[in-house]
Amino acid sequence: MSTIGFIGAGLIGATVARLAVQGGHNVVLSNSREPRTLLPLAAALGPQARAASRGEAAEAADIVVVTIPLGALTDVPVEPLKGKTVIDTSNYYWQRDGHIDVLDARSITTSQILADHLPESHVVKAFNNINFKHLGLLARPAGDPERTPLVIAGDDAAAKEQVTAFLDSIGYDALDAGALAEGWRFDNGEPAYGKPYLGPDADPTNILAMGNGQAATRAELEAALAAATR
Ligand SMILES: NC(=O)c1ccc[n+]([C@@H]2O[C@H](COP(=O)([O-])OP(=O)(O)OC[C@H]3O[C@@H](n4cnc5c(N)ncnc54)[C@H](OP(=O)(O)O)[C@@H]3O)[C@@H](O)[C@H]2O)c1
Repeated sequence: MSTIGFIGAGLIGATVARLAVQGGHNVVLSNSREPRTLLPLAAALGPQARAASRGEAAEAADIVVVTIPLGALTDVPVEPLKGKTVIDTSNYYWQRDGHIDVLDARSITTSQILADHLPESHVVKAFNNINFKHLGLLARPAGDPERTPLVIAGDDAAAKEQVTAFLDSIGYDALDAGALAEGWRFDNGEPAYGKPYLGPDADPTNILAMGNGQAATRAELEAALAAATR
């Protein structure tokens, strides 16, 4: 059992937190406001969950999940995350996030922006390419034929091992896409982004009608990563 800290507890943060609690972990939740604003979510998650400040969540955690808008990444505390594994879920939508030159130019990836902000932490990109609803529904125990891999990328082998073990504990295998710089392969717009987990009940004409999702196979995800074109 580990303690998982959350900087951001919205759609994807709350979903990962719920899976983490179900996987036997403690979770420490934070957002941009007073911890009391997260008391309802912490109560819903039960005694393994508590609300805190960003700094406290970072301090208490073995692994921290950063799951906030790109424009807020500079608010992520640096000092308490030194030496720690940090999972980044972020995506770039210029329509939502405003134009960010280095991302428009595709010279670096979103997770590299966080890694530059946290030079002494070990950033692993994960969860960005699956819709929160599918993530919540597709978790399966090890050995289940319907268990699906999630794609990860990162520069530190030990951190990727830690994230792989965490994913295992919450119902997912891991598929290593390589270094953090390779993270663009499962970014928004690429074949591995969302589509492998879209089930037959998804309405392709309506972004909000995501359906219940489906397990993607390792081969499908590997083919999607290889087909990325940037
Ligand atoms: N939604 C999905 O299905 C999905 C899937 C994969 C990846 N992602 C990506 O993950 C990221 C988060 O997405 P989301 O859908 O979970 O967003 P969301 O529902 O809007 O939640 C954002 C969270 O970030 C918090 N936050 C904002 N500014 C903060 C700050 N300065 N410090 C700490 N917390 C802050 C918000 O807290 P307040 O309420 O206090 O502002 C909220 O808890 C985005 O980059 C998104 O593209 C989303």
